[in-house]
Amino acid sequence: MQEEILLQKITEIVHECGAILLSADDIKRKTHQKEGKGNFVTDYDSRIQEILEKRLLELVPGAAFLGEEGQMDHTDISRGYAFIVDPIDGTANFTRGYNTSCISVALALDGYPILGVVYNPYQIETFHAIKGKGAFLNGERIYTSDRTLVEGLILFGTAPYHAELTRKSFEIAYQYMSRAQDLRRSGSAALDLCMIASGRAEFYFELELCPWDYAAGALIVEEAGGLTGDLQGHPLTYGRKQTVTARAPRVELLEL
Ligand code: IPD
Ligand code: CA
Ligand code: CA
Repeated sequence: MQEEILLQKITEIVHECGAILLSADDIKRKTHQKEGKGNFVTDYDSRIQEILEKRLLELVPGAAFLGEEGQMDHTDISRGYAFIVDPIDGTANFTRGYNTSCISVALALDGYPILGVVYNPYQIETFHAIKGKGAFLNGERIYTSDRTLVEGLILFGTAPYHAELTRKSFEIAYQYMSRAQDLRRSGSAALDLCMIASGRAEFYFELELCPWDYAAGALIVEEAGGLTGDLQGHPLTYGRKQTVTARAPRVELLEL
């Protein structure tokens, strides 16, 4: 299927899932504890993932499917097509009515994203990118900002499910913040990446993320002219957990 048509169909599916988020009720009763501090899953995460798995695999039959509410260790995304999906990124926000969550869908080929869609139904913002064809917000081309670190807004994730990373996360945040203008923490890695892509912020990092948190967002950043990698700038991979950074091109990585 032609990429643009595929994008349109994926976007339609993601928008339908967004409507489910907006109409959610009684979320507290439908929230369950997962492994790790403060790690929850709701009935909505599971339901949206089921819908995404069924509908996306109809579009690309035979593709692998890697979703948060599944088994990472048993899914090989290194060859052929693979969907990498977070049914709700920002689940803790969702359980609290914080209204900062999104649905994130990437399509990878031979291990690397070629198409990404991130939808924030609360703001009605759809970010997308196709490899080599630029990044867009609600159909308008977006670019990373031309600010440097001193003019920059820092975003970070606290790796909340890994208590052993809290101190290091704040030490790195301190290093960047003490050179920059200010700092934010949203609760959604995918949306943070889209903030970098759309030039609303300049540097993002999180010490441990899963591929579904960043696969779509990282492609959107790259296609908007930004840089992604780990803390040293080594390229991202998409089959395992890792440290993620994203930045506007004039922001230098610090030697920590
Ligand atoms: C989480 C969010 C959060 C980030 C965590 C992620 P979830 O995803 O993206 O911002 O700090 O590391 O796991 O659990 O809400 O899908
Ligand atoms: Ca996530
Ligand atoms: Ca999730």
